[in-house]
Amino acid sequence: MDRTRPAQPAAPLGPHSLLWRYAGDSRIAFLGGTIGLLQLMHPAIGAGVLEHSNFFDDPADRVFRSLPRILGAVYDGDEAATTGREVRDFHRSIRGTDAAGRAYHALEPATFWWAHATFQFMAEQVADRFDRHRLTHREREQLYREGVEWYRRYGVSDRSVPPDRAAFQDEWERVCAEVLEMNEAVRFVLAALEAPLAPLGHQAGIPPRLRPLADNPVVRRLLARPSRIVAVGGLPAMVRKRFDILWTPADQVQLEVMQRTIAWTWPLLPATARWQPRAADGWRREVGFVP
Ligand code: HEM
Repeated sequence: MDRTRPAQPAAPLGPHSLLWRYAGDSRIAFLGGTIGLLQLMHPAIGAGVLEHSNFFDDPADRVFRSLPRILGAVYDGDEAATTGREVRDFHRSIRGTDAAGRAYHALEPATFWWAHATFQFMAEQVADRFDRHRLTHREREQLYREGVEWYRRYGVSDRSVPPDRAAFQDEWERVCAEVLEMNEAVRFVLAALEAPLAPLGHQAGIPPRLRPLADNPVVRRLLARPSRIVAVGGLPAMVRKRFDILWTPADQVQLEVMQRTIAWTWPLLPATARWQPRAADGWRREVGFVP
C-alpha cells in the first residue's frame, strides 16, 4: 500500500475555491457564538480553555486572537502550511486532566478534529444561513474536501477526518449526541448571552474605527438579544434539546428574519468590511483586489 497517499481526497485551495469564498467572509462573526459553544461543549476543549486561557476575563478574546492564524491556514498561499504548523505547535502544552479526572491533550486527533469541524461548519453555515447562494450537492462536497486540505495544513494526524461530507455529517451528529457535555465554561457563555449587555469582549475582530461603537453600552444593550438569538439559534436542534437550552417558535422567527436581512443587505457593504483582514490580504496577493 502507498503509505503517503491520503485517505481523504482533499481539494486545492485558492481564489477559485469555495473555502476562500466563505471561510474569511466577515459573516463568520455571526457564527462565533455558536461555534464557541460547540467547541467548549467538547469535554477536552472546555477543560483546556478553562485551564490554559484567560477565558473568564474575556471569553471572546480567545476567538478573536486565534482567528487570523486559523484563516491564515486557508489564505496564506505558500506560507499557509507554516501558519498551520505554528497553530499546531502552540497546542503542544495544552494538556491536563478535566474536572471528571479524564486526561486530555489538544493535539489528540479526535479532539483537534472537532475544533476544526466547527470551523468547517462555520464556513458552510455562512452560505446556508447568511448568503443568497444555495450550495448544490456537488459544491457542498467540494467545500468539505477543501476543508480537508485546510485541516492537513495543521500537520495533525488526519485519522479522525471523515472521508466525505456524508460521513462528516454522521460523525458530527454522533459527537453532538454522545460526546458533548454541559460544563462550567458553557454555562458561563450561556449566562453571558442572557445578560442585558451583549458579551462583545475586546472586539479585536472588529475594524478599529468601529470599536468605540461596539464598546458603547447602548449598542451592547441593543445587540444583546440578537446575539443570543444568533448564537443559540445556530446550535443543532439536538444540542439545544440535550442541554435544555430555551428556544421558542418566536426565537426561530426572529432568527429567520435576521438571516434573511443579512443575506439581502450584505452585498451593499463596502468590500473591505465584507472580508476578515487575513482573507483580504490573500485576495490582494492572488488577484490584486478584494472581491
Ligand atoms: C483546528 C483546531 C484548532 C485551531 C485551528 C486552534 C487555533 C488556535 C489559535 C490560532 C490559538 C491562538 C494562539 C495564540 O494566541 O498565539 C489558539 C489558542 C488556544 N487553543 Fe486552540 N485551536 C484548535 C484546537 C484546540 C483544541 C482542541 C483545544 C483544547 C483542547 C484548544 C485550546 C486552546 C487554548 C487553551 C488556547 C489558548 C487561548 C489563550 O491563550 O487564551 N485549541 N488556538
